[in-house]
Amino acid sequence: MWDKQTNVLGLILAAGQGKRMNSSRPKVLQPLGGKAMIFHLLESLSAANVDRQAVVYGFQGEVLREGVCVHYPEISWVEQKEQLGTGHAVLQAMAAIKQSDLTLILLGDAPLISIQTIERLLNQAGESGFALLSAVVENPSGYGRVLRDEQGQVCGIVEDKDASEAQRQIQEINTGLMAVNSRWLEIYLPQLRNDNAQQEYYLTDLIAMVHKDGHPVISVVAEDWRETAGINNRLQLAQAEAFYREKQAEKLMVAGATLIDPARVDVHGEVFVGRDVIIGPNVFFKGKVTLGDGVCVESGCVLSDCQVGAQTTIFANSIIESADIGAQAQVGPFARIRPKTILAERAKVGNFVEIKAATVGEGSKVNHLSYIGDATLGRDVNIGAGTITCNYDGANKFQTVMEDNVFIGSNSALVAPVTIGAGATIGAGSVITKTVDAEALALTRAKVKVKANWVRPKKKS
Ligand code: UD1
Ligand code: CA
Repeated sequence: MWDKQTNVLGLILAAGQGKRMNSSRPKVLQPLGGKAMIFHLLESLSAANVDRQAVVYGFQGEVLREGVCVHYPEISWVEQKEQLGTGHAVLQAMAAIKQSDLTLILLGDAPLISIQTIERLLNQAGESGFALLSAVVENPSGYGRVLRDEQGQVCGIVEDKDASEAQRQIQEINTGLMAVNSRWLEIYLPQLRNDNAQQEYYLTDLIAMVHKDGHPVISVVAEDWRETAGINNRLQLAQAEAFYREKQAEKLMVAGATLIDPARVDVHGEVFVGRDVIIGPNVFFKGKVTLGDGVCVESGCVLSDCQVGAQTTIFANSIIESADIGAQAQVGPFARIRPKTILAERAKVGNFVEIKAATVGEGSKVNHLSYIGDATLGRDVNIGAGTITCNYDGANKFQTVMEDNVFIGSNSALVAPVTIGAGATIGAGSVITKTVDAEALALTRAKVKVKANWVRPKKKS
């Protein structure tokens, strides 16, 4: 077993260019589930308490380092100037390896490895010195195959390009992940040779050497091979995305949410759900989202960095970003809630309404076709259809305040800064440019002129 005293190095191999991506950025920065591949690995390593991490980089190293350093300043960076193979890549990190007891080797292009699998590998290597993560797959082509001796012990790995016809039939593949006693890496890595089909220093040749010297190499078989799948092109990236989606959907369902179609819900971040939450198809979550008990999110909604109180319904095709939605509220359909919005309990925001940096008090309603920005609304305010807060003069933003029980008639423009006192009424079609006292009626409506028996102009023939 390994424990807190065991000094583990998590070593990520990411020097390859990833030619088959046809991309101008390094492969490990390709986004998967909303974040760069390499961040999945770094997060899993941290979660498994592998706190020392090193990355072997090469192609576009500066871009990679810049992208990662902001979030993980502690990582050691090891440059591999020429990509001479996975064994050569690990050898470049010898200084870091020497400072550790166990080295866990991960491939930057296999980012969905689970924390449990990492722990299984480390536990095994802690006991026996060498643990290899293998997987049994339907179609092993392209992968290194795991060779076993008469006793069934792992005795080597043969790369696809070097394999005989018989070896190609083997369905147990090398995932590329392994945990190794760091002393063994010190001894065996310098002995690797490149006399093979690709003229590369294969890390996988280590297995035969270790076995020959009488040390056991134990294989840990991945429970679901998809978590180990290497991503070399955009087809495999989409397959990995689908696997990731499936896993996230499973978590939501286990936690108490009903997903009408789990294959059509994306979580690019973290979603916390209460009981009896219902999520419709084509819902997209980003960042950190919390849904209280009984929340219903209808189809086509995009929710990012927000919380939604118990028993609230978000009707179809609504977009919510960095907002706090109270309990028993209603939003949408087709509503857009922008950052710094707070909707209190029982607030209602209806169709084609945009709200930005505004607080909407308890039981207040903005039901149709309105823009409310930089505003504070008290309780039980009623905003008529087509109301606009004119918050911007082209240079600066100003606040609008509507106190409790205000009633705004339809198609009104409230020119900020302006305050409407409690219980005041604004007549439909008004343009309000100054403070309206509590309980007053304000309106700026032109008189209606009526001309009897009006004859409409006729078309000239
Ligand atoms: C490797 C394994 C193969 C395994 C497969 C699993 C070897 C020799 N082969 O093959 O047995 O089945 O992964 O996906 O190890 N890299 C470097 N420097 C290099 C070469 C590679 O950093 O000089 C990095 C790459 O960026 C990549 C990883 O190592 O993240 C794997 O390299 P890749 O060339 O994709 O190896 P495979 O041929 O897929
Ligand atoms: Ca690969």
